[in-house]
Amino acid sequence: MILNFFPCLIRYSIFTPLPLFFKHQNLLPLSCSINFIKPISSSSSISAKTIQVPLFLKPPIYSTTILELKKFQNWAKSLSLSIGLKFLNLDNGPESNLLCRELNWLLEDVVEGEEDNPTGFLTLGCSENERLVRMRVEMEELYDLWKQRIEERRPFQYIVGCEHWRDLVLSVQEGVLIPRPETELIVDMVEELILKDKEMKQQGVWVDLGTGSGALAIGIGRLLGNEGRVIATDLSPIAASVAAFNVQRYNLQDVVEIRMGSWFEPLDEFKGKIVGLVSNPPYIPSGDIAGLQAEVVRHEPKLALDGGADGLDDLLNICKGAASFLKPGGFFIFETNGAKQSKYLVNFLNIQMEGSFQYVNSVSDFAGIHRFVTGFRK
Ligand SMILES: C[S@@+](CC[C@H](N)C(=O)[O-])C[C@H]1O[C@@H](n2cnc3c(N)ncnc32)[C@H](O)[C@@H]1O
Repeated sequence: MILNFFPCLIRYSIFTPLPLFFKHQNLLPLSCSINFIKPISSSSSISAKTIQVPLFLKPPIYSTTILELKKFQNWAKSLSLSIGLKFLNLDNGPESNLLCRELNWLLEDVVEGEEDNPTGFLTLGCSENERLVRMRVEMEELYDLWKQRIEERRPFQYIVGCEHWRDLVLSVQEGVLIPRPETELIVDMVEELILKDKEMKQQGVWVDLGTGSGALAIGIGRLLGNEGRVIATDLSPIAASVAAFNVQRYNLQDVVEIRMGSWFEPLDEFKGKIVGLVSNPPYIPSGDIAGLQAEVVRHEPKLALDGGADGLDDLLNICKGAASFLKPGGFFIFETNGAKQSKYLVNFLNIQMEGSFQYVNSVSDFAGIHRFVTGFRK
């Protein structure tokens, strides 16, 4: 997850072939989503002010001419092309082609254009140059956003305020981890399980520990439907707040509940009752963090990345908690840094926690890396 920051060269993953327009159709309108702050179960309340509305949800209250937009596009494109392979060679960062693709996506989110071709007007001839286009930010801010992308290596997802993940468009901002494509597999595995075993869907609560943007909780909540219940926890107030925003946008507030606190701490009443537990906790060894891509190390929250000396601190904590919180037969799936951590955890669960779990396995991600550990409570 963390090390491969740009594995996807298309904005819509393989699970999301529909264009942006269609995907936004089943979401609540903006007016519903920004007034969302219902109490989140937590010791401290979360303010709506902390939420940054994604660009594509902002009202198009500004305007500019096609000529001005073409000037911006040319400027931003040549800045992107000037990067060449520099970031790639430096820290495996994005090369110019990807930056140019991001530039197109930024323009699509910023302008109000034709639904199936939002930036089509940029290919019109000079005779149309004075035509006005409606915008969601002012031109000055648009220039500033692209400077941040290139000069500060601010992640594209924080620039536009969202990430396309599975069939979702999730709001993200500084302080919240950008969900990664490989984590989508966790939802696929849960889907496979509940299709085979209806009781996993109907009997008991599902939990997502360290929910971040709410990606896993929302993905699973949509699978469970109205009969399901998912509790998602996070220690970070900003993550809890953004997750709640995303839950509301997908109208899942009766299915997914966000609780602020450390791992199992906000879940006391569910001891021995959890039917399914998913978690993608921080798992990067502390010493590896400085070497990550600038986008990650400079901008993503350390709380979401740092898993202690060998990256296993939180994973081991969660394994131990799983033994007392899962009900007999309950399922778990954890994401790890790769083969070394997965192998260690499989041994730990089978040997050091002997008698607690069964059918413990490691499962590969899209790249064939042993990324996940799964199993069942005995
Ligand atoms: C790697 S991120 C995963 C976020 C999200 N589940 C995803 O897959 O995109 C780990 C998350 O764990 C949260 N976290 C870190 N320490 C925690 C703790 N002690 N209790 C609960 N959540 C914690 C971080 O705030 C972050 O949101």
